[in-house]
Amino acid sequence: MKIVIVIPTYNEVDNITRLIPVLFDEFKKMPHHDFHILVVDGNSPDGTGQKVLEMQSSYPNLHLLPEEKKAGLGAAYICGFRHAMGKMQADVLVEMDADFQHDPKDIPRLIQAVEEGYDYVLGSRFIKGGSIPKEWSFQRKFLSFGGSMFTRVVLGIFNVHDFSTGFKASRVKGFVDKLDLDSVLSKGFAYKQDLLYRMYKQGAKIKEIPIAFALRDRGDSKMEKNNFMDSLKVVIKIRLRESQNFFRFIVVGFAGLFTDLGLFNILRTLVFSSGEPEISARYSSAISGLVAMTVTYILNNYWSFSDRKVTSITRLLRNAPLYYISSYIPILFRSWFTGYSVATFGNTFLVANTAFFIGVVIGLVWNFTVYSRIIWRKTK
Ligand code: GDD
Ligand code: MN
Repeated sequence: MKIVIVIPTYNEVDNITRLIPVLFDEFKKMPHHDFHILVVDGNSPDGTGQKVLEMQSSYPNLHLLPEEKKAGLGAAYICGFRHAMGKMQADVLVEMDADFQHDPKDIPRLIQAVEEGYDYVLGSRFIKGGSIPKEWSFQRKFLSFGGSMFTRVVLGIFNVHDFSTGFKASRVKGFVDKLDLDSVLSKGFAYKQDLLYRMYKQGAKIKEIPIAFALRDRGDSKMEKNNFMDSLKVVIKIRLRESQNFFRFIVVGFAGLFTDLGLFNILRTLVFSSGEPEISARYSSAISGLVAMTVTYILNNYWSFSDRKVTSITRLLRNAPLYYISSYIPILFRSWFTGYSVATFGNTFLVANTAFFIGVVIGLVWNFTVYSRIIWRKTK
């Protein structure tokens, strides 16, 4: 496999000159792979880029991708990923700090997991065997660990414990090459949470391996002061975007319910009021259901599932009958149930509407399953 270690740098001249030889030594332990280092330098004033260029004469697999200016960690990685996947034709991308906080000796373990078939291998600080520097202040430890736990719950990815780790390996084919890198939500450190979520949605097999996160060797951290808030924003944005279909579906549901319930009572008390209560309840429910169904079909198609709109006429013709048949099943059940209830418990407003409502709730569960799995399912 062609493996490219992408290392963003900003003023890391002291670190990178020592890291490069150590890495190339480490690569010798895995001679069956073709290792390359791609340094993405944010035009460091300390001459990091220049130094890397000079070292290229001793290391032919060392590459430099100069950025015009420092544009954030996420921006540097996106730039580096594009170059590694395009020009360099990488099979695996590794993300790593330049400052020895990530131990080069862990690279074989990351790569081994990729060989075993994992698509996204995370060096994790928060699983058994992993650690953060004991010298860190309580506040920093708390923010780091707490941030990951928060992300875990909000995104609902429970097989991951470290969401902000900067040391990982990702498979290109079928995974990173399928991501739309233009739309990554942050140019800063928070790109990590977004990329992780996208890999997860892409169906990547994820594995965490424990790492000891060391103290920075030399120089200062470049982490932005607003990193914590930025990550929080990214995580919440992802959650809201993912929930949008469901929220809209609920709103449409209420519009449908309003139509359904209103029409049901109007028909029952004004139009079919002279007949048998049981028959009257059934007809009213069957008609109000049909009207409400049409209202929700239109709203769902043009609004809640607008990203999966049924546009082609063939799909529309195929889907409308499917929609009507599948949605009418719980309405038939409900109509029968409401009729049965008024006949058994008395023809009062309370009995009719309670039975009707129970039927609606059952229908809602039924419909969401059928709609999202069949009618508005994502087509790839
Ligand atoms: N080109 C470029 N542009 N490089 C950058 C930029 C930038 O804007 N910002 C940072 N870097 C480089 C640094 O020079 C370093 O090599 C690497 O990216 C990571 O930056 P650090 O300054 O070392 O970050 P950190 O050690 O504070 O943060 C670490 O822990 C975080 C989780 O707690 C990193 O591993 C992060 O990736 C991780 O999220
Ligand atoms: Mn670092």
